[in-house]
This record gives sequence, C-alpha cells and structure tokens, in this order.
Amino acid sequence: MDAIEKIQKLKQKLNAVILAHNYQLPQIQDIADYRGDSLGLSIEAAKTKADVIVFCGVYFMAETAKILSPQKTVLIPDRQAGCPMADMITADQLRTLKKEHPSAKALCYVNSSAEVKAECDVCCTSGNALEVVAGAFREDEEIIFVPDQYLARYTASQIDRNFVFWKGYCPTHARILPQHLRGKRAEHPGALVLVHPECTPHVTALADAVLSTGGMSKYVKQSDCKEFIIGTEEGMVYRLSQDNPDKKFYAISDIAVCPNMKKITLDKVLYSLENIYEEITLPEDIIARAQKSIQKMVSYT
Ligand code: 13P
Ligand code: SF4
Repeated sequence: MDAIEKIQKLKQKLNAVILAHNYQLPQIQDIADYRGDSLGLSIEAAKTKADVIVFCGVYFMAETAKILSPQKTVLIPDRQAGCPMADMITADQLRTLKKEHPSAKALCYVNSSAEVKAECDVCCTSGNALEVVAGAFREDEEIIFVPDQYLARYTASQIDRNFVFWKGYCPTHARILPQHLRGKRAEHPGALVLVHPECTPHVTALADAVLSTGGMSKYVKQSDCKEFIIGTEEGMVYRLSQDNPDKKFYAISDIAVCPNMKKITLDKVLYSLENIYEEITLPEDIIARAQKSIQKMVSYT
C-alpha cells in the first residue's frame, strides 16, 4: 500500500478531514478534502463534521481551526511550519501598543498567534479586510492593524479610516519586486496581473487586481481573459491551472516560495494520522477570547 492509500484508510478509520491551503505542494493539494484561502479554511474548519482535522498549512491556520472547533482533534503534520509574519508581533508588544493608543480598537490579520487574536477586537483575512473594517469600526475610530504593514496600507488606500500600522511583513511576498511584474508583463502582454495584498505598495500599484488567494480563484473563473500573471506564492499557480485548464498562468517570480508552506509532505501527513501528531492545544481562556474576534470577523463577511 502506498502513502496515499494508507492516508485514505486512516482518514476513514479516524473520521478525519484534510484541509490544505492553496500554497501547499501539489501532492498535498491533491489529497485534500478541501483547499482554499485562510477565510475559506476557517469556515470549513468551523463546519466540518469530522472528528479529526489534519491541517496542511502553517501553524496559525491550524490554531485558527482549533479555536473554531475546540472539541475536535486538530493536527499539523509539521510543528515547524510557522509563518514568520505571524511571529513578528507578540501579545506583549500588542498590549504595549494598545497602552500607547488607549482609545484605539485592535484589528489583527488572521496571520497572527492565538494570543494576539485574543487581544484584538476583531480579526480579518486578506479576503475580507475591507468588509471587516467597514463593518466593525466607526469612521472616527483609531484602528491598530497588526501585524502586516502592507495589507494594512493597502486597506488604508481603499477605505477612509485612521490606522496605526505595525512593522510586520511576509518575507515571501516582499521578494516580489516591480521589475518581476514588469518583466512578466513584457513577456505576456495579453495577461492580467493579479497580486496579493501582502505585496509591497510598489507592486500592488502596478497590478490589474489586488486579491486574496480565494479572490484570485473567483476572479479568474469569472474573467474572459485567458492569461494571468500570478503575484503570490507559487503554489497558487498549480491550484489555478487545475481549476481552469483552458487558461494559462505564469508565476510572477520563481523566488516567491514560502518554505514553511512546503514543509508538509505526504509522509508527514501519514505520520500525523498514524501517531495523532502534532496535536494543537491552547488554553481555554485564549480559545474563548480569540474565538470572539474570529466570530466577529465571520459576521461581517
Ligand atoms: P490567503 O488568505 O489569501 O490565502 O493568504 C494567506 C497567506 O498566508 C498569504 O501569504
Ligand atoms: Fe506567512 Fe508569507 Fe508564508 Fe503566507 S506566504 S504563510 S504570510 S510567510
């Protein structure tokens, strides 16, 4: 029996479901029961009837699944698959920032730890940041937006609110440069350029559309255009090519790779199911407080 067959058998035995982010390796995307962006994965984690969730993504995503389904067993096949951006702010740093801005409300990107989510009024993803800001805050309110300075700045460029920024960023998206975009556009002049809001403002300013990975999927399906330059982690090109075999996709740069997303392999998924490894555990009070900020986000989406 090969690894895939063993995974399928164990999934049945344990009543497990495999959730995978759009940046996962093709062989992981292929065995997933559901793949999507951070928002879609959170919603799926909250509604699944499975007893065990094997989360193929990075650590904060598995934590989010646990926060939304605390009674379920949530596994991440590699504990080291972290998100460097999520680690760029600690709950202590956020508490200090809140003290410096005592009347401000706090908004965190879902790419943050459970402790940071627990400190915030509401959470958002790159797919719903605008709706959340519009729905959750008054126009005259000051909003601390952590940790991604680029998602925060892009959101600020789209909606008139008073933001306090933090200095976090995604090292993978920061590697995407305007010259990559211009070079690909010169190679494929008929293609539309879609970029993720984690890219720098120099890049988002040149794009045809700025979208979450889920937003890219929808955009491509609805578009009459046949060619797209994809300005995000390269795994997205596999996802889009599979879903839209009649269209062509070009990665904006072959250095836009998230090494943490690529840590999950078939062997690790199998080990995870065989050994119930590594189980996400969180203190009950953190779950309760973080749940509020995530549920508030979902109510505005
Ligand atoms: P999406 O929610 O757009 O999938 O983004 C998650 C992420 O980590 C982007 O780097
Ligand atoms: Fe984190 Fe960037 Fe990797 Fe997304 S692509 S998980 S933001 S490091």
